[in-house]
Amino acid sequence: MNILVLGSGGREHAIALKISQSPKTTKLFVAPGNAGIAAIATNIPVGVNDFDGIKELVLREGIDLVVVGPEDPLVNGVHDFFLNDALLKSIPVIGPQKAAAALEGSKEFAKEFMMRHNIPTAAYESFTSESLEKGYAFLESLKPPYVLKADGLAAGKGVLILKDLDEAKAELKSMLLDSKFGSASATVVIEEFLDGIELSCFVLTDGSNYKILPTAKDYKRIGEGDTGLNTGGMGAISPVPFANSAFMDMVESRIVKPTVEGLKKDDLPYVGFIFIGLIKVDGEPKVIEYNVRMGDPETEVVIPRLKSDLVEVLMAMANGTLDQIDLQIDERAATTVMAVSGGYPEEYEKGKEITGAENIEGSLVFHAGTKLQEGKVVTNGGRVIAITSFGKDFKEALKTSYQNMEKLHFDGMYYRKDLGFDLDV
Ligand code: AMP
Ligand code: GLY
Repeated sequence: MNILVLGSGGREHAIALKISQSPKTTKLFVAPGNAGIAAIATNIPVGVNDFDGIKELVLREGIDLVVVGPEDPLVNGVHDFFLNDALLKSIPVIGPQKAAAALEGSKEFAKEFMMRHNIPTAAYESFTSESLEKGYAFLESLKPPYVLKADGLAAGKGVLILKDLDEAKAELKSMLLDSKFGSASATVVIEEFLDGIELSCFVLTDGSNYKILPTAKDYKRIGEGDTGLNTGGMGAISPVPFANSAFMDMVESRIVKPTVEGLKKDDLPYVGFIFIGLIKVDGEPKVIEYNVRMGDPETEVVIPRLKSDLVEVLMAMANGTLDQIDLQIDERAATTVMAVSGGYPEEYEKGKEITGAENIEGSLVFHAGTKLQEGKVVTNGGRVIAITSFGKDFKEALKTSYQNMEKLHFDGMYYRKDLGFDLDV
């Protein structure tokens, strides 16, 4: 089969590597890809939201399966674009249709979905510029900290957590009246604050059947001890030690099953990955958010642990036969550590030469933000390279990732050295 993966990050590198290892894969293309992906697939310089460019590429290369990495094209309707095109409609796309992608594209939609299907989540109300005064009153009824969420996609920046009531009111006003996050904050969801420990749960679905992938925990803050600004993710660990089978039974019965059944009941067509952001509060799981894709950097630990043929799994999703798949998972723990550009997640420079990757042994190297420039691999993003390792537990795996990280160099390189600090084994 000829397969196209859309995206250019570490997530897509990890997915592409697994696809490239399948005997079912003839040719593998990634659009637009990165310097690391270029070693295992053909990169095509087409953007993930350039649907006409994607169409041309799919027809030219005889693509049999499309796997969508990031959320943007899904929320923009790339799957629907294929279904509405006579030449493309028979080509399977892994990723939900637009109506279902609203689970990530609109926080209000996701909250209403959870309410309708009795899925445990934080209490909330949503507000627009017309109901600003009601929003103030709602904030006054809550205890701090206050959680304000822009309804739409805001590049991961649309959630504010504030300790002070006056500050929360000022931010609500700025989101609703001054378009702080553009049109994404025309509606704002205000939520009850949940105090607990977070984890990510990944579900594959064909629309009726589902399979749960290994859990993962990512480290979002830039600074050690989970301090400083939020990033796309500084590293991840799988499995999550505190997500034992009793906890995962609750996740499955209270959250995963009602989510997949709810999608079906609501007629929301979903063939793809469901990323459920969970928080464990007093021993019980609640949903923080849905994403309609895999997590990054969680994919860099979850997908390497998958022993089954990923192409077979993806085809079973597309064909509605996921119930016939028995997912084989590597028992070992996996960790990934992300090297980022100096300054990230604020301003940073690109184009720094990356050296030393060839000396890395016993780990997988996934490129997140890199490109080839005059024969050299250079930085091309905030998150640059993730180093994934296995071990009998996450501590052993982390040791290997950290040893190999020392061999990697670029100007301004930074990584967190304390992953797993919050987990007891
Ligand atoms: P989201 O974009 O919805 O994942 O939110 C970003 C981050 O904000 C989450 O990963 C949590 O750390 C935090 N967060 C979101 N909602 C809540 C909540 N209701 N209570 C506590 N923390 C939250
Ligand atoms: N690592 C979190 C995310 O992919 O959204």
